[in-house]
Amino acid sequence: MVSSVAISSALAIAALIAWKALVPNYKTSSKSGRDGESKSVLITGYSEGSIGAALAHAFHAHGYIVFATARRISNIPARLQDLSRIHALELNVTDQTSINRAVTDITRHVDGKGLDVLVNSAGTMLSGLKLVHVDIDQVGKQCFEVNVWGPLRMMQAFSALLVKASEKDNGNATVVNLGSIIGEIWFAYQPLYAASKAALHTISESMRLELAPFRIRVLAVVVDAVQSNLQRNQPRFHANSDSFYAPIQEKIRDFVEGVVPHSETPTEDFAEQVVRDVEMGKEGKVWRGQGVWLIWFLGTIMPTRVSDWVFSAMKGLSGLRRVREASGSGTRKAGWSEKLEKWLEVLA
Ligand SMILES: NC(=O)c1ccc[n+]([C@@H]2O[C@H](COP(=O)([O-])OP(=O)(O)OC[C@H]3O[C@@H](n4cnc5c(N)ncnc54)[C@H](OP(=O)(O)O)[C@@H]3O)[C@@H](O)[C@H]2O)c1
Ligand SMILES: *[C@@H]1O[C@H](CO)[C@@H](O)[C@H](O)[C@H]1NC(C)=O
Ligand SMILES: *[C@@H]1O[C@H](CO)[C@@H](O)[C@H](O)[C@H]1NC(C)=O
Repeated sequence: MVSSVAISSALAIAALIAWKALVPNYKTSSKSGRDGESKSVLITGYSEGSIGAALAHAFHAHGYIVFATARRISNIPARLQDLSRIHALELNVTDQTSINRAVTDITRHVDGKGLDVLVNSAGTMLSGLKLVHVDIDQVGKQCFEVNVWGPLRMMQAFSALLVKASEKDNGNATVVNLGSIIGEIWFAYQPLYAASKAALHTISESMRLELAPFRIRVLAVVVDAVQSNLQRNQPRFHANSDSFYAPIQEKIRDFVEGVVPHSETPTEDFAEQVVRDVEMGKEGKVWRGQGVWLIWFLGTIMPTRVSDWVFSAMKGLSGLRRVREASGSGTRKAGWSEKLEKWLEVLA
């Protein structure tokens, strides 16, 4: 009798341990759909085909209540709005009134439980710009509105709900900001986009320190080429024949049209990785997406003089220098480095 009780207890305990080991976070991956037990996540920049959409689906599959937001509600497919635990909301990250309205709606919905995860995915890419020609008021400020002030406004507005979530059961809340490799290295032709992402990385890292006492983690995902509409959504490139850069306009156009390489990471794989990062409690900068190691190498190991030289050769800036030099003196002999530059330019 006694031994059979002992054996069945031991089996029950072993089963429980195995269950815990094999199914980590089984509570959060519950697909019960009962709002009371699930964690919640708010995602900006949800439009069909975007990283935001893939993240919404991935968090949903992990059992989260998802607040999927886009600046135009019509961009959120109806089939998504029919899923339980997904709530579609209109939210324009550049409009404080719109953000405040979302805070009110979500506060009512989560009913005192707070918001567990905030994902800032809305963003805009600008390519083909040259700093000497940039229209600061029209283009520059708009880029920073979406990529820098947008995420900061969101973090400010939702901080109280994040703190609330971290207070329950000794829990944690997480902010995920989608940055870019371009914020970690310097390239020509994407100066404002790069500056906005560098600013976002710095804001993320400072926020991480400032929010640590409240057990709110801040994650800056340094993203490289992921399938999405980012490339298609950027403003079209207009060649300008009056520009200093007129001789290399076609080279710049090639850069703009191929800026997100074709061998990109599938959006679903990327989204799954980010959900895993959140569940594992990662914080600070994490590099994700295809090609991040190459960029990391170029940005941190390779001397700047070398990476500048390679980039300038491949992207036409060395060619432009040669055009300028030739118009000056006329009779110059190409040295070996010039030959290498031309070879790199053809290769690119
Ligand atoms: N895909 C990549 O290879 C890659 C690489 C590095 C970094 N990232 C970053 O990843 C994030 C997601 O981009 P994605 O690749 O998913 O690009 P995407 O397909 O173009 O999606 C961007 C999302 O941001 C929204 N958005 C743009 N301007 C906005 C504004 N003014 N106000 C509110 N929302 C706005 C878009 O809404 P609409 O549909 O209404 O325009 C869309 O939902 C961005 O922050 C991007 O910088 C992506
Ligand atoms: C988003 O908000 C900005 C600032 O208020 C506004 O200029 C823009 O038209 C809005 N976009 C949409 C799609 O509502
Ligand atoms: C919150 O994070 C701390 C530190 O990583 C961890 O010890 C704790 O278990 C986490 N709480 C929950 C509810 O996951």
